[in-house]
Amino acid sequence: RLDPRLEAFEARIARGEKIEPGDWMPDEYRRQLIRMISQHAHSEYVGMLPEGEWITRAPSLRRKMILMAKVQDEAGHGQYLYHAAETLGATREDMMDALLSGRAKYSSIFNYPSLTWADVGMIGWLVDGAAIKNQTMLAGCSYGPYSRAMVRICSEETFHHKQGKEMILTYAAGTPAQRRMAQDALNRWWWPSLMMLGPHDQDSPNTAVLSRWGIKLKSNDEVRQEFINEHVPELLEAGLSIPDPDLRFDEASGNWIHGPINWDEFWAVVKGNGPMNRARLEARRFAHEDGAWVREALAAYGARSQAQAAD
Ligand code: 3HC
Repeated sequence: RLDPRLEAFEARIARGEKIEPGDWMPDEYRRQLIRMISQHAHSEYVGMLPEGEWITRAPSLRRKMILMAKVQDEAGHGQYLYHAAETLGATREDMMDALLSGRAKYSSIFNYPSLTWADVGMIGWLVDGAAIKNQTMLAGCSYGPYSRAMVRICSEETFHHKQGKEMILTYAAGTPAQRRMAQDALNRWWWPSLMMLGPHDQDSPNTAVLSRWGIKLKSNDEVRQEFINEHVPELLEAGLSIPDPDLRFDEASGNWIHGPINWDEFWAVVKGNGPMNRARLEARRFAHEDGAWVREALAAYGARSQAQAAD
């Protein structure tokens, strides 16, 4: 017989109720959410790097201001998500230690280099486009703090997506050099954007329990298909070509069917052997050490305030 608390918990999930921090929840529900939310937060935190390095090199003040706003948003998303993980008992120190030691995962997509200015537009269009599909799904998840963080993040992500698409459409309709830059960026970001949404469903060990408890409302392949169906027609319409010779439209299902994904590349990147994994962790370690004085000052101020309050 099921543990009656588990039975009651699953009945709440079935009724579409939100589980809140103080509620009873299975240990595995808590563990899975700390895993997903902390890795999501790490993704936002590392995700600032590929775009941030272009802020000083933006081609105009307008583009610079848009990019600064986007990178600041990503930092904020990281904060919401670290806080959401803290509501489950995770500590900021442990999560930061897991990231900086290389133990924690973060999205594979940010281990690729942003080589030209057009990459900034392609990241906005494709990476934020994929993230919106995933995060819109997670906005309905059963854990209250995560679901509410997603609602806020998705509204900001929509601006990120639109500005990236507008950039690429401008360059694809621009000079031959701009068109080449846009196509080159698509060639390098298309497949990593498909991989970012996770392994195929049959290779996704976490999906079963996540969908049983209302955390993952769509599978990796379903979210990937949504992403492909929206972006392929728009990229083709812009006069760009998709670097997938097997890509074809299936009339019966209305789906664009992609060619085989290079999962060896995916797992190599996830395991730390992507083009930029080392550079990303070094940059995050440097930022953490460089900001140590702020944490020390805050701790000293906190201790003094407590001592004064005790007097
Ligand atoms: N990068 C790194 N690791 C990945 C990955 C990716 N793109 N996709 C899957 N993995 C890992 C999983 O974490 C899991 O390893 P773990 O058990 O040690 O954590 C393993 O590969 C097997 O994958 P599963 O499909 O079983 O894992 P999930 O069921 O958790 O599905 C996921 C993967 C779809 C990424 C899911 O974790 C998820 O929805 N996470 C929250 C969303 C998120 O992290 N998005 C990051 C995108 S970047 C972003 O949003 C920033 C935006 O501003 C651009």
